Formats: sequence, C-alpha cells, structure tokens
Amino acid sequence: MTMATNSVPLEVHSPLAGASVPPYDVNRIRRDFPILQQQVHGRPLVYLDNAATSQKPRAVIEAISRYYERGNANIHRGVHFLSEHATSEHEAARRKVQEFLNAADKREIVFVRSATEGINLVAQSYGRAHVHAGDEVLITAMEHHSNIVPWQILCEEKGAHLRVLPMNERGELRLEELPKLLTDKTRLLALSHVSNALGTINPVKQIIAMAHGHGVPVIIDGAQAAPHVNIDVQDLDVDFYVFSGHKVYGPTGIGVLYGKLDLLEAMPPYQGGGDMIRSVTFEKTLYNDLPYKFEAGTPDIAGAIGLGAALHYIEQLGLENIAAHEHDLLVYGTETLSAIPGVRIIGTAAHKAAVISFILEGIHPHDIGTILDREGIAVRTGHHCAQPVMQFFHVPATVRASFALYNTRHEIDVLARGIEKVKEVFA
Ligand SMILES: Cc1ncc(COP(=O)(O)O)c(C=O)c1O
Repeated sequence: MTMATNSVPLEVHSPLAGASVPPYDVNRIRRDFPILQQQVHGRPLVYLDNAATSQKPRAVIEAISRYYERGNANIHRGVHFLSEHATSEHEAARRKVQEFLNAADKREIVFVRSATEGINLVAQSYGRAHVHAGDEVLITAMEHHSNIVPWQILCEEKGAHLRVLPMNERGELRLEELPKLLTDKTRLLALSHVSNALGTINPVKQIIAMAHGHGVPVIIDGAQAAPHVNIDVQDLDVDFYVFSGHKVYGPTGIGVLYGKLDLLEAMPPYQGGGDMIRSVTFEKTLYNDLPYKFEAGTPDIAGAIGLGAALHYIEQLGLENIAAHEHDLLVYGTETLSAIPGVRIIGTAAHKAAVISFILEGIHPHDIGTILDREGIAVRTGHHCAQPVMQFFHVPATVRASFALYNTRHEIDVLARGIEKVKEVFA
C-alpha cells in the first residue's frame, strides 16, 4: 500500500468578496480541530465516523465558550443588556441558517433539537392535521429510523397507511415506481436527501417536482446532506427540510426545521409553553408569531450560536470546495477498499456522498470495528438506524467509513492497512 498524501489543491471560491482565501490545504484545516490532534490507544486518531457526528472546529468551541463566559442570559424576556445581546446573537444565528438554506424568510427557520425533532414536529403538527383514516404517507426504502417511526406512529394513530418507494441493488431509488405510489390518498412524501447507510444522493429536486405534480407536499431529511451538498430550499421548492447541527460541525442539541411560510402559519403548535404564546388566560391562549410559535420554552441558545459559527466556518471554506475534497476521498476510498479481497461495498449508487459502507467476508462488522479501534481508527458498525436497508441487502450490519472536510487520503491508507490486519487476525 502506498502512502498517498492528499493532493487536491483546489481553488477556493471565497464567499467573502475581495478576501484572499488560501487553497484547500487539508493539513492547515485539520489544525482548526483540536480533537484531531490527539492519539487513541497510542495511535493518531483517524476519525471516520462523521456521518454519526462530525468534529468541531475551534471557531465553534470558542463561540460557545464566549457565550457562556461573557454573554449568557435568557432571550426574549429581558430588557437588560445581556438578554438583549443574547437575543440578537440567537437571531443572527437564525439569519445564518436562512442564508445557508437560501430560505426566503427568516420566519421559515425554526430551531429544534435535531433533525429527529424536526421530523416529529411535522408529523405531529402538519401530519395530525392533514392525515386521516385511509390516507397514505409515502417514505422510501432507504430511510433512517428517524424518518420512518414518526410516520408509523402517525399512521397508527390515524388509521392511515405507510407506503414505501423501493430501491435497486445499487441503493438508488426506483423512480419509475413513484407515479404509481403517488395516489389521491397520498398526503405527504418524506425522504432523505442523502442516505446515511449507503451514501446515495437522491435526485430530490426531480422527486419534489413529481410529488407536487400530484399535489403532494414533501419533507426532506437533510441530516446527511447539510455537511456535503449545497441546499437551496427555494430552488428545490421543498415544503419542509430538516437537519442537525452536530453533523455539520456544530454542537449537539440544536437542529433546524425549514418550512414554507404559509404551511407553518396554518399549522398548530407542536409543544406548549413559554415564548410560544402572545397571551394566555385560563379560557384561551393566543399563539406567538412564527417561528416562535414552534419554539416553546428556553431554547438551546448556545447551540444556535455554535451552529451559526459552524455555518460561517463552512461558508469560509466554500461548500463546493469541501464537496470536491470529499469526492476525491470517496473515489480514492472506493478504489482502495474495493481492491482488498473479501471487501464488499454496500451502496454503489452513481451519485454518492463520501460514505462507504462495507462488509468483509466471514467477519462480523463489530469485530472489524473493535480491531480498527485498537489502531486508532473510529468507524461505525451496526445497522446505522436503518434496519430496513440491512434487511434489503441481507446483511445484519455493515462497517461504515464516512468522510468529512478534514479527512485525508493517508487516513484511507491507514484504514486499508487496518482492514488487512483484521483479515490476518481472523485468518
Ligand atoms: C439520514 C439521517 N436522518 C436523521 C438522522 C437523525 O439525526 P439526529 O439524531 O441528529 O436527529 C440521522 C442521524 O444519523 C441520519 O443519518
């Protein structure tokens, strides 16, 4: 195995007009991430579990510390300096998310706990209002449990039916089946932008147009897309879009639900509490304006500020540059792992994000993960919260290496050597 260095000197298109931004220097970028400097089991950490959660740059860590050291106060409720300052920082983070998604209006950005909570909000608010007995909710065969179970709960409660758009052996959706599944009973289509278990990038713009052709609104689970793919909710014409902060180099505990203004306006609140009201009497409560109607209680203020810092960090590097770097890793990783006898890659779609799920003949993924861990390599093993995907491919679990903006070809070489070692142990 040759030791390749990462050699993709990319032009960086800076969003900062006139500012000079250095080329994509992955070694310089790695220094922004304190956690990557450490050793695990006496080996340099090779972190390839980014689809589960990504590491945080110093800019995010410092934004959160700064808030707690100098800016901590509750928002919306105070006239004092710190409260007003915290409120304006929180709203600045919302504007950052609005820019990131190219949403038309700041009121369309609802802060939630995670992608999971965003989907549950839509299921429990929009879903309960629009899905009735005999209706259908359409999902796909490659969904994360977060985009299956909330719809199952809703369908069970309402006496509605869950329908599933199938996929092929490469892990691509079978779009030719979609028109048959979009019936006059379909009330909503819920699908992932990028599959966490397979890496498939779905042609969501085309799918949304097909659904809209049948009058069916669409919610996109963007948990795996947000770190890798440029998202423009207006261009997509998507009705709802969710993602989690922690997969996009931000903190845990914060996520985003985007919804079209008219849909959010018409939806009942998801949770009741402080901040989501305009006035309360024992007889009647009037709800607050958007987006606060959906943000009951004290939100994760530090989390939102950290997310804003993470999106700013991505913007400075340029999402297209990140995507080009990760694509190089995907191509190199696919070639390198495919060349190892016994490795079978699960998920070979033509359009993929930088996720490689694989199995190794005769060796359980958990054993592979444990041996790789001793080499300092962090990968995920298991069903990846996508058990139906595992059932489809007739495997109990896979090993998943998922790449981020700071990974290198060298780390892929280390992974390949680790896999050879696993084979020696089990020989
Ligand atoms: C495709 C997809 N959807 C939803 C989720 C849920 O994200 P969270 O646990 O941050 O809510 C994940 C997490 O792995 C995911 O990969």
